Amino acid sequence: MSAHQFNQPPIDPDNIDYNASSNDSFWHVIEQAKVRRRGFLKGSSSLVAASMLGAGLAFLGEAVQSKDEKLATAASGLELSFGAVAKDTNDQVTVPTGYTATILIATGDPISSQVSAYKNDGTDTSFEFRAGDHHDGMHFFGLGNSGRDPNSASKGLLCINHEVAEDLGFMHANGPTDYGNNNTNARPTSEIDKEVQAHGVSVVEVVKTGNTYQINKNSRYNRRINAATPMEITGPARGSAMLVTAYAPQGDQTRGTINNCANGYTPWGTYLTCEENWPNYFYRREAEGSRTTEEETAFKRYGIKPNTSGRYNWSRSGANDVTDLYRRWNTGKTADRPDRDFRNVANTFGWVVEIDPFDPTSVPRKRTALGRLRHEGCWPAPAVAGRPIVFYTGDDARNEYIYKYVSNRPWDAADANKGMAVGDKYLNEGKLYAAKFNDDGTGEWLLLSLSNPDVANYEDYTFTDDVDVAIHSRLAADAAGATKMDRPEWGAVNPTNGDVYFALTNSVSGSSGRGMKTPLDAANPRFYADAKGEKIKAGNVNGHIIRWREADSNHASTRFEWDIYLFGAQADADANLNVSGLSDDNDFSSPDGAWFSQASPGLMWIQTDDSAYTDQSNCMMLAALPGTVGDGTVKAIDSQAVPAHDGANHTVTTKVGQAANSATLRRFLVGPKDCEITGIAETPDGKAIFVNIQHPGERSKSPTNPAQFTSHWPDGGDARPRSATIVITRDDGSLVAL
Ligand code: FEO
Ligand code: CA
Ligand code: CA
Ligand code: CA
Repeated sequence: MSAHQFNQPPIDPDNIDYNASSNDSFWHVIEQAKVRRRGFLKGSSSLVAASMLGAGLAFLGEAVQSKDEKLATAASGLELSFGAVAKDTNDQVTVPTGYTATILIATGDPISSQVSAYKNDGTDTSFEFRAGDHHDGMHFFGLGNSGRDPNSASKGLLCINHEVAEDLGFMHANGPTDYGNNNTNARPTSEIDKEVQAHGVSVVEVVKTGNTYQINKNSRYNRRINAATPMEITGPARGSAMLVTAYAPQGDQTRGTINNCANGYTPWGTYLTCEENWPNYFYRREAEGSRTTEEETAFKRYGIKPNTSGRYNWSRSGANDVTDLYRRWNTGKTADRPDRDFRNVANTFGWVVEIDPFDPTSVPRKRTALGRLRHEGCWPAPAVAGRPIVFYTGDDARNEYIYKYVSNRPWDAADANKGMAVGDKYLNEGKLYAAKFNDDGTGEWLLLSLSNPDVANYEDYTFTDDVDVAIHSRLAADAAGATKMDRPEWGAVNPTNGDVYFALTNSVSGSSGRGMKTPLDAANPRFYADAKGEKIKAGNVNGHIIRWREADSNHASTRFEWDIYLFGAQADADANLNVSGLSDDNDFSSPDGAWFSQASPGLMWIQTDDSAYTDQSNCMMLAALPGTVGDGTVKAIDSQAVPAHDGANHTVTTKVGQAANSATLRRFLVGPKDCEITGIAETPDGKAIFVNIQHPGERSKSPTNPAQFTSHWPDGGDARPRSATIVITRDDGSLVAL
């Protein structure tokens, strides 16, 4: 490994490990298994290892028949037709020759013809009619002349998530007003309002114009949903005493959605937006001593820390006394009853939220049956008539879990494109599971319910009922014994064969990166440590993508088989790190977005949010033609490093998909400086894709001094950088990528 793989900026506090569960009680068991494997693999064939490792038989047995690692051709029969884009660190978007990328909508751009153009100098107002900030997940819904038309490529409604308001404060003339020592100063409501409005979702009508797309600023569908928009609580937690606030004494409503990261969509034609790093938005200082043990446990497990004013200090408005619009960010017990303060407000966040883009007056619905966690996104399995509706969702922080929701009601194809009216039917009642990846290549879905004895008898938290389980999914998954993963980001289902993919972006830190507190396992097998003076940064640096196939090809199954599709690495790293054989045409680090085209089944897109390989390249997007679960071979990955916890050298045996080559994985796009590439949508004809460039210039040091901006994209010159959605089309008007 060369040194620049550890060119790490500070660890993002959003991704801190709050999982102190005793799921490691099986740690010594795993370690013993590894010790045995090491011994066997040193001097014996994997056949011997297979015969000795009882439970590993089925998995390792396949190694005996494993194929040579010959260059794979795409199982899909598809062929990538563009030339690989080279890595670069330029402040621009680069796409292949023969393609054009145009800016569709950037932070602050008006979504109404009544609102002025964005000056981008911090003086703009009216954010309720402007695109929000930090564009993330999105989806294109075809629009015909009289409403929904799933086949329409000429116009559509694009739903775009806006994850956060830039922390540096580019949207304020001089950055945010000084919060004061310990964040105790009052903040101007004008600044808070702007930041609140910059969160959430944009719904905008896009219209094909020549060979690209533009916003129709006069569309009746254009709408902003933000961190103050009224929302219904639906599903099991609706009406729970744990959700009672001064705003909703019945526990059935809340205001706003925050940290809208990735997304999903439903077969009935609605959009799903997911609340990811919501726990750090709350003020929590006063009167916390009187919380119950369960409440304290829950705060800790979700990372809602004591003695914090929250990420933006939103409760510190001078208007605190006159309106609960600001006071609602304060989780303190400030009154004598829960319906007179906001002690429970944090329980109204952390959900998947359903939005009907075709009904601009509809009230978004928080879907509590899908669990409360740091939801990265919510991805559907294909809907099959007569079978349950299934969604996959991941909790993006170190050592968190992958979840699956299975509806109680079977899918009725007559409900296709009926909109939010049928959402209650499928999303309010179902089963939530967490994934357990066994070291032998099998896996199981663990039911999160009091009907699971492991949940009912959990020692670290006493669940009152299944409503409590839904509100505290993380604790229920701890109890059930789910597998701690290396930060689950996007999931995606391959429409050609049902294989489910999940990007595990990385797990690095000084103490809780993979391999430190949490042992390596076959599903999270890589470790690298870099000691610099006193400090050690260790873990899974470049991330990987895991995938599985549900038993009987039924997404509602509770068993599956898995392998690791792809490992991030730089091309010149040694074989223990560059496990997938990446080359200059396709090396990448920290996969985040993972998405399958519906228009071109078999075509996958991978997007990166990386901070390790950025001296070689800005974040990027690659096109992939993956094979199938089990198409590869068993490998023993030697981490060649010494994890701090036990001083042992680690070799982990796991099953790895076919090596990548330029025919099956190829870089398609490189973004501007200090951005991440996240969010992708396509037109139903597969001839245009929409991609989000989030936080260009993220490491800028000043919100006002251009010399200290690290990017000026997309406006150039001395401009403040801003996030944007771009449209990419092929100059000859044909299919993208193929
Ligand atoms: Fe908002 Fe995990 O990415
Ligand atoms: Ca992400
Ligand atoms: Ca990320
Ligand atoms: Ca982000």
